[in-house]
Amino acid sequence: MPNTVIRAMGEGGVLTLRLDRPEKKNALSREMYGALSDGLQSAAADGAVRAVLLAGGDDFTAGNDIADFAADGGAGEAPVRTSAALDFLEVLTRFPKPVVAAVRGVAIGIGTTMLLHCDASVAARTARLQMPFARLGLVPEAGSSLVLAQRVGQARANWMLMSGDAVDGETAAREGLVTRAVDDAEVEAVAAAMAGQLAGLPPGAVAATKRLLREPYAVALKEAMDRERAAFSERLRSPEAKAIFAAFLNRKG
Ligand code: COA
Repeated sequence: MPNTVIRAMGEGGVLTLRLDRPEKKNALSREMYGALSDGLQSAAADGAVRAVLLAGGDDFTAGNDIADFAADGGAGEAPVRTSAALDFLEVLTRFPKPVVAAVRGVAIGIGTTMLLHCDASVAARTARLQMPFARLGLVPEAGSSLVLAQRVGQARANWMLMSGDAVDGETAAREGLVTRAVDDAEVEAVAAAMAGQLAGLPPGAVAATKRLLREPYAVALKEAMDRERAAFSERLRSPEAKAIFAAFLNRKG
């Protein structure tokens, strides 16, 4: 199987986890979620890793692989949101060390919602961030029904999640969805420098700060994610969503 998540240990204890499925705009397969979860879990346990840089290539990620969404909807009755995606979100939302994301190109669906659980994110001014869940017949996930409003305010969160309209990186930074917007060519370097900066600080203090920043909404986040999971599973099975997935998968046929 091709290696679609590349791990590279860099200077100063920064581990890079790089999505590498460019022919599908880094759409996340089950294997990729699994590799990301493994990468984070070993990073948590490895004292040499002081921070993680999450990166893609020309694109960050076009979100969950829609073929997997279609398969998850299946014919059966079982609750279905792919456990690989849920496991990844669980690992990311509990990950104890700093995570910085470098976003170029598209960051769609979970490509944007995972940023809500990173400690910092750097987007290209021209990046396209989008949460088109409702357009796909789905509902928000990754706690975005709660956490997005904390970032951008309730009015913008409502609009982004209901309309599914995209924002560019510049707007995302101005509205607080990402930490910074820079020129496309600078994204990786700036994100790596920020990860390096956090990696260079006393790790106990950084971890304790991260815990304190999360603690006030940890219970509410878990409850939001539980509610979202139930609704998402139901939506995946709906004829509405299935028809939209089929239309995407057959659009070039
Ligand atoms: N799942 C599966 N395949 C995907 C994908 C996804 N989420 N996103 C892109 N791809 C595939 C395309 O099917 C295409 O594959 P093909 O060359 O075998 O046909 C390839 O990646 C390139 O994408 P393409 O659509 O040709 O590029 P584009 O520049 O015209 O459009 C996007 C890029 C990201 C706007 C478009 O692919 C898209 O809308 N993707 C779906 C995004 C989405 O809704 N994700 C789920 C969020 S919950």
